[in-house]
Amino acid sequence: MSIAFSHNPASDYLRVRNAVRHFNTPEGGVVKALDGINLNIGQSEFITLLGPSGCGKTTLLKIIAGFERLDSGKITLDSQTLLELSAHRRPVNTVFQSYALFPHMSVGDNVGYGLEVAGVKKPERVQRIGEALEMVGLAGIEKRLPSQLSGGQQQRVALARAIVNRPKVLLLDEPLSALDRHLRMKMQIELKNLQTELGICFLFVTHDQEEALTMSDRIVVLNGGKVEQLGTPTEIYHRPASRFVADFIGESNVFEGKVVRFDDFGADVQCGELLIRTEDRNLITGSAVEVMLRPEQFTLLDSSTSAAGQQVLTATLEQAVFVGSDHQLVCRLASGQQISALVRGHCHHLQVGQPLQLAYSSADVHTIPAVF
Ligand SMILES: Nc1ncnc2c1ncn2[C@@H]1O[C@H](COP(=O)(O)OP(=O)(O)OP(=O)(O)O)[C@@H](O)[C@H]1O
Ligand SMILES: [Mg+2]
Repeated sequence: MSIAFSHNPASDYLRVRNAVRHFNTPEGGVVKALDGINLNIGQSEFITLLGPSGCGKTTLLKIIAGFERLDSGKITLDSQTLLELSAHRRPVNTVFQSYALFPHMSVGDNVGYGLEVAGVKKPERVQRIGEALEMVGLAGIEKRLPSQLSGGQQQRVALARAIVNRPKVLLLDEPLSALDRHLRMKMQIELKNLQTELGICFLFVTHDQEEALTMSDRIVVLNGGKVEQLGTPTEIYHRPASRFVADFIGESNVFEGKVVRFDDFGADVQCGELLIRTEDRNLITGSAVEVMLRPEQFTLLDSSTSAAGQQVLTATLEQAVFVGSDHQLVCRLASGQQISALVRGHCHHLQVGQPLQLAYSSADVHTIPAVF
């Protein structure tokens, strides 16, 4: 299933049309690395490609960069067909996970290498190297060797090298994954600021869903060489288009059910013994759906709180784990299904085995068409 929630007509700066790339494996099989990808991306969007290992993220970047060919399909950038241009003539640049700096060359020479190859004269080169290093927060270190820099600094030099010739699109393949958590979070902010400052399109690959949710204007969720969903972080998180997306991004409680009634305000879905009310209005009686609630959409009821206007589930507490300001509760419904709830406040009085009342709002209940 391929669903684009938010098609913005202005987003056709980078267009990928029916991109297909199959690989023959040494075992005699065929891998569909890209299986009909369509994307419309804006001129200054921060786009993240997210998906499990082997879903085609690197293949798509390599094809846009010109390091890999397409079997069929078309890619245009700023109305120019890309596929006819050799890699070094494309107005794109790539930053990889491994910084791949030339170890024997100074930082300045590393950053200016592409300019030199392109025949840019020395005075302009020096100026542009200085500007690029300044943009990544490393002004004045032109003379150092890569070995005299930390991992984070090396990655910034790789970024400076990639932006120095002013590409229209920057391709970033897991550029932060070699960095430790602290540095990685710092670089996430720097990268986002750099993208805003440059005003160019970033196509960023990560395995890390949190990183994708915090940095991106829009996220492309890939699965088996296909686009599962293209949407803003909020759409992807709260309105996943498929069970795959719901399970892949964040934690979710999913109930399988059937629509038993609908009206102008929503529908009732029978999920085993549970009747769940949703405000989704595109459902018809008899259709099979999956109903999703995120853990943080539950509130825990006690004697002092009422469920006014809310739906309530009764479940047995199996585990409560303190996670900073919240508690992660694992509970079991009478049906045997396990559910996860993230609740605020003091839960120290709770006992494993006790019944809990978990309230949720029908406005938060998202439904996904069931696919059999
Ligand atoms: N040159 C190749 N020959 C054969 N198969 C390949 C080749 N390159 C990629 N593949 C296969 O194509 C699929 C997609 O690979 P790709 O590298 O694009 O995945 P990915 O999404 O980047 O994964 P990861 O998150 O692990 O980096 C995989 O199944 C991979 O094994
Ligand atoms: Mg990859």
